[in-house]
Amino acid sequence: RSFHVAIVGATGAVGETMLAILAERDFPVGTLSLLASERSAGGEVEFNGGKVKIQDLATFDPSGVDIALFSAGGSVSKEYAPKFAAAGAVVIDNSSAFRYDDDVPLVVSEVNPDQIGNRPRGIIANPNCSTMQMLVALAPLHRKYGIERINVSTYQSVSGGGRSALEELGKQTGQLLSFQEIDPQRFPVQIAFNLIPHIDDFLDNGFTKEEMKLVWETRKILGDDSILVNPTAVRVPVFYGHSESVAIETRDKVTVAEARALLEQSPGIEVVDRHEAGGYPTPVTHASGTDAVYVGRIREDLSHPRGLNLWIVSDNVRKGAALNAVQLAELVAAETR
Ligand code: A2P
Repeated sequence: RSFHVAIVGATGAVGETMLAILAERDFPVGTLSLLASERSAGGEVEFNGGKVKIQDLATFDPSGVDIALFSAGGSVSKEYAPKFAAAGAVVIDNSSAFRYDDDVPLVVSEVNPDQIGNRPRGIIANPNCSTMQMLVALAPLHRKYGIERINVSTYQSVSGGGRSALEELGKQTGQLLSFQEIDPQRFPVQIAFNLIPHIDDFLDNGFTKEEMKLVWETRKILGDDSILVNPTAVRVPVFYGHSESVAIETRDKVTVAEARALLEQSPGIEVVDRHEAGGYPTPVTHASGTDAVYVGRIREDLSHPRGLNLWIVSDNVRKGAALNAVQLAELVAAETR
């Protein structure tokens, strides 16, 4: 059978990629509804050789939608996801609006796909991009060796902040190279030729919300509240692809050879770990525009008997958002075959 699929936020950086990935993976789309704000309504987008009109979300009737992919920000999700669900759609929501609700599953397709059916509200949450790629790599290690603690520093590209953030990096880069003044709008300080240890809001404990997502979401997805996570999240002047320096401490000792063998046969992962120039993943050389989570620089921690270091890189707009959402849609579609 084919499905009536809606994309909410279809003109955004993630929404556009959702559409491209639906086509790439031959998702059985019967009817396609592309929704955005009234600012973009009436515009046209290509899909599978035809043209589809963008509609205004505010006046759209969701009856008949089977699967709705939301990526238009938390407040849009809070208002409209329950309406789509009430009209019978399964909502796959890329915002953080429902991620921490007990009755909303939070699913990485390679890690906890069995949770997908547990959706009393008809809403499934797509994890944060940084947590997504980290857990694709760490879940197999956790299952076999028991991860007790994770120290992670992220190097997050600007595309995680949407189209306006991509534009700001490009604009500032051009302005600075031509000796012009810049005027930061989308980021708190200059992002071009800089990096910023501040993503999302500061919380009372001194961590940012982006950092705490790594704590909360790791525990929920792995179903283990005992895992300790110590995160630092940093925005870097890269367009596409997040990188992470991750140091884990395991219950049972894991060697580099064992970790590599396990990761090489785990789904969604490509190990790139040669000790030579270019023998490691970077956002530009490996991740950008591709689907895998790349793992390199695998080393045993010099300072801990059961510690392992990894460098994890992936396209945050694809596996970190749009691709995982479409993979969840595929799991939902498979239920009704
Ligand atoms: P629009 O292009 O009409 O503003 P990004 O994350 O790249 O900034 O994209 C955000 C997406 O969410 C865009 O598709 C944007 O549509 C959409 N969006 C933002 N606010 C609303 C809203 N109030 N109603 C519907 N869509 C919205």
